[in-house]
Amino acid sequence: MVKILVIHGPNLNMLGKRQPEIYGDTTLEEINRLLFDRAKKADVELIIKQSNYEGEIIQNLQELHMEVSGIIINPAAYTHYSIAIRDALSALKVPVVEVHLSNIYAREEFRQHSVIAPVCRGQISGFGSNSYLLALEALLMIL
Ligand code: DQA
Repeated sequence: MVKILVIHGPNLNMLGKRQPEIYGDTTLEEINRLLFDRAKKADVELIIKQSNYEGEIIQNLQELHMEVSGIIINPAAYTHYSIAIRDALSALKVPVVEVHLSNIYAREEFRQHSVIAPVCRGQISGFGSNSYLLALEALLMIL
């Protein structure tokens, strides 16, 4: 069975409570449920991880990439400055889709640059919780 790894970065465990005017009121659990439902219909298995720590995200990528055919990652604030996560992703052969709930290009200047995007197959930004579902559709099309 095709497996896809989904990684949620720092503070995304607070979705629903965290700045709902920007990130919406859907919780991370609800997003994961939507992803699991869609994946089940497509006969795909998901491994979903959330971490507030850069090193743990890198560890997850290193340990799990061999098991999966694609990766969806919302690096959250690390998007804008983590060369370490970028380097970890660069070393992988599987397609990676970068996801953001908010449209990072319509926000503060420091959010308008992603150091992750150049090492991804593509990026989806601005569709709230649907960004994750769109990322999953993109990977299903690629795989
Ligand atoms: C985010 C955008 C980032 O700038 C921010 O730091 C986040 C969430 C998003 O999904 O819109 O934590 O990645």
